[in-house]
Amino acid sequence: MNILKKIYEKLIKVAEEARLRAYVPYSKFKVGAALLTKGKKIYSGCNIENASFGLAICAERVAIFKAISEGSNQFEAIAIVCDSKKPCFPCGACRQVISEFGKEIIIINSNLRGKVEIKNINDLLPDAFGKENLI
Ligand code: THU
Repeated sequence: MNILKKIYEKLIKVAEEARLRAYVPYSKFKVGAALLTKGKKIYSGCNIENASFGLAICAERVAIFKAISEGSNQFEAIAIVCDSKKPCFPCGACRQVISEFGKEIIIINSNLRGKVEIKNINDLLPDAFGKENLI
């Protein structure tokens, strides 16, 4: 099996496990994420909701914020897993947050039925607003 495929499968597995920890009493829609750093560490995330609905945070951002707060900010790939018919793609807010950390980050979009689509963040958010706009 090629090495990249093995790494992506590992990320999907970690995201599936994280998904089970989702705190989703309102939507009941569980999402898991697994973020691979350039240093080959993996940070997981799940979505976390709140009785004040607007405070819900997506699995992807939980994984990214965990990584940043633990000292990692160079990312290679992120896997996202949910239980829907089509693979789970990151929402617009998460695309913006992912693109902050690199235009080449690979997004592994997956569902529980083993359907996987792979893109990079520039495919999902072309012409993103970024730090270069602030100069
Ligand atoms: N959600 C994620 O965690 N990631 C996404 O990319 C899309 C949506 C969560 C937010 C909310 O808890 C639930 O899924 C339903 O929108």
